[in-house]
Amino acid sequence: MEDTVAFSHQPVLLAEVIEQLRPRPGGVYVDCTLGGGGHSAAILQASAPDGLLVGLDRDEDALAAAARRLAVWGERVKLRKANFVRLDQVLSTLGIEKVDGVLFDLGVSSYQLDTPGRGFSYWHDAPLDMRMDRSAPFTAAEIVNTWPVEELAAIISRYGEERFARRIAAAIERERRREAITTTGRLASIVKEAIPASQRRQGGHPARRTFQALRIAVNKELDVIAPALEQAVQRLAPGGRLLVITFHSLEDRIVKNALRRLADPCRCPPDFPECVCGQKAQVKLPVPGGIAPTAQEMEQNPRSRSARLRVAEKLADRF
Ligand SMILES: C[S@@+](CC[C@H](N)C(=O)[O-])C[C@H]1O[C@@H](n2cnc3c(N)ncnc32)[C@H](O)[C@@H]1O
Repeated sequence: MEDTVAFSHQPVLLAEVIEQLRPRPGGVYVDCTLGGGGHSAAILQASAPDGLLVGLDRDEDALAAAARRLAVWGERVKLRKANFVRLDQVLSTLGIEKVDGVLFDLGVSSYQLDTPGRGFSYWHDAPLDMRMDRSAPFTAAEIVNTWPVEELAAIISRYGEERFARRIAAAIERERRREAITTTGRLASIVKEAIPASQRRQGGHPARRTFQALRIAVNKELDVIAPALEQAVQRLAPGGRLLVITFHSLEDRIVKNALRRLADPCRCPPDFPECVCGQKAQVKLPVPGGIAPTAQEMEQNPRSRSARLRVAEKLADRF
């Protein structure tokens, strides 16, 4: 574990997560994005004395920090290094059939952002890495230095929702021909220079959207969300709840659409008098628009500002 930054991550929407997840003694809960274990600790407290918590993360630093923090709960905690898209497999290996709640708190942790050596942040000059799982095959530096300019522009536009994506990609291509781009500092200044001066002050740091895009591409963050949510719903016992915290519109759209499909899967034409496709709702959505943080939380923890908690509740099987 890198010691430059202690593992600190303030859990977002903590009270709301506990209220919606409704942990109880004897329940089985899965935290698919363990991070520093903040949400997990609260779930363990609320499900005392014998609730079980399964925690997953693909970042070894996160697992090590969470293992230390959650050690007091002993056998009630099972931690595994895994991408959450392998949720089904992890539960099978543990011999767990059904669970009472699953939490996804998507994206990066403050620890990942604040640790210079992880290369996630434009605030620190560091090797351009951005892998959550440091055994994963490629880093942000590989994307920046080897991907065709059109592909760079496409990911910066799609995953960063950056209107100057083409200019940024062209600047990257020009600069990498002179010398490989290997640090966050150099990339941040290339991006800044590529954005027209009059636009640089809008929407935070000028490199924010490009860094978000690269992080999403390196970690293939979006591809795994919908399949993981489907696995989670399959594993929920009737009345069990799935909670997902999203931090930007791309994530939120994927989650919203996936939950809607699970809540209303019927694909019959609207003028059919009754359903003939046979697709049955698997969940209901108790808080259809999701839950945003309070003004007080947003003030205390700026990272929470864009957060939204979405909730689904598993329905009983109907025959
Ligand atoms: C926002 S943090 C979670 C913070 C945590 N809820 C807490 O209270 O400390 C997100 C964590 O999810 C992990 N993560 C992101 N995508 C993942 C994936 N597909 N599979 C497993 N872990 C993932 C990241 O490595 C990071 O540690």
